[in-house]
Amino acid sequence: MFTAAAITADNKSELYAELAQQARGLLHGETNLIANAANFASLVWHALPDLNWCGFYFYDGSELVVGPFQGKPACVRIAMGRGVCGLAAQSRQTQVVRDVNAFADHIACDAASQSEIVVPLIKRDGSLLGVWDVDSPRLARFDGEDRAGMEALCEVFMNSVDQRTTA
Ligand code: SME
Repeated sequence: MFTAAAITADNKSELYAELAQQARGLLHGETNLIANAANFASLVWHALPDLNWCGFYFYDGSELVVGPFQGKPACVRIAMGRGVCGLAAQSRQTQVVRDVNAFADHIACDAASQSEIVVPLIKRDGSLLGVWDVDSPRLARFDGEDRAGMEALCEVFMNSVDQRTTA
């Protein structure tokens, strides 16, 4: 059984470093996409304060489809370019939105969401796997440190599910 050690960090960058270490341990030895996505979402959900949703949308070749997550039931399909998730997927750039109410095309799945961060997930072959989406009930919950920390966490996830098949 995996038991997440209590996180003792007193600043964000330490917190994300500890969390990345835990994610490496949690996902180690497993490459199944759904299994690792589900455990990754649970790990982050329990470790980070002030979240009301965190989870995956996977690209099915035409649009984004919801994957493993924590939080309330969510929108199932998001078109490329639509909402914060679709923008992150299309631009392949992490999106940090300090106030979702000021983001014209925000797709409200949970009215509690006030801010969010979405990280695109790109495979080694350059193709799009999907996005990692984290929502908060707190305005301006995510900053540059969260961006760096979430991107590092997503790298741990991608390393687990998108392993090199040739040496
Ligand atoms: N907020 C997202 C939609 C997905 S849910 O929040 C789970 C967006 O606008 O892309």
